[in-house]
Amino acid sequence: MLGTGGTIAGVGRSATAAGYEAARITVDQLVAAVPDLQGMAQQGSLLCEQVAQVDSKDMDFGIWRRLATRIQELVDDPGVSGIVVTHGTDTLEETAYFLHRVLRADKPVVMTAAMRPATGLNADGPRNLWDAIAVAHAAAAPVSPDTPADAPHGVVVVMSSQVWAGAEVRKSHSWHIHAFDAGDATALAQVRLEGSLTMRRGWPRSDALGLDLLPADDRWPWVEILTSCAGSDARAADALFDAGAQGLVLAGTGGGTLHAALEAALQRWTAAGRPWWRATRVARGGLTLEAPDIDDTHRELTPAQARVELMLRLMAR
Ligand code: SIN
Repeated sequence: MLGTGGTIAGVGRSATAAGYEAARITVDQLVAAVPDLQGMAQQGSLLCEQVAQVDSKDMDFGIWRRLATRIQELVDDPGVSGIVVTHGTDTLEETAYFLHRVLRADKPVVMTAAMRPATGLNADGPRNLWDAIAVAHAAAAPVSPDTPADAPHGVVVVMSSQVWAGAEVRKSHSWHIHAFDAGDATALAQVRLEGSLTMRRGWPRSDALGLDLLPADDRWPWVEILTSCAGSDARAADALFDAGAQGLVLAGTGGGTLHAALEAALQRWTAAGRPWWRATRVARGGLTLEAPDIDDTHRELTPAQARVELMLRLMAR
């Protein structure tokens, strides 16, 4: 189990306080709070490491590279059957998408988080942690109608008893315990109370890019997100261009349309060979627009996921 911080490791002033500080408790302490997991840790079948300790709003490329490198080492270790990563919910969709795209994961990589701090009255972290371990364990379970025929592998996210594909998951509520969905896609599975899985869909497979393309100096391609809205001003796109941004994701309206002022500003980007991609600011449905600049492989991505994909494509150039 690899810890990176987040609300799951958060501490509040009281059990009911709305405010709290994320990333305060170590992953060892999280495990110690769940008796079954503590037992596994004492027997040596569950090992904990703290890879980072951040509020995930401050996630950065150095942590991403460290995390992906460590996970890949563990995936490649024959003594390890699965990896669980604790994370904050705020940028979970970006980290999950990134890991899905770079890891050659033929074992389960299960991310989990919490919407309530560890000290909260209805802390959801302990249950999510337990469920995440149950999903990682399913890899070793005998095949039955309730377990996948192919061993569960690849990057998934477990929240509120639902298993989401790492490439699809997104945060869709700012405070509710059931805060994640996958746009129009359904969950891959549900985790029952006793830890068995009810499968809904097959497990994710990724044509992973591998880790070699990640810059060692953590100077990743500069890609920003710009939202198209009433009164959008071309100066925003121009300012990013002049400052040297290497790519742009436009969170468009509806099915991917853009304000005419932005469309005009983007001609400069196109002429200079600097890529810009459309996404939509709408929660469901993805890009419906037919336009030569749209690549069908990223029609369903959120703006944040599209940004990760564009950065990786720029690295792979
Ligand atoms: C964070 O993303 O680290 C803080 C918020 C959360 O985990 O819900």
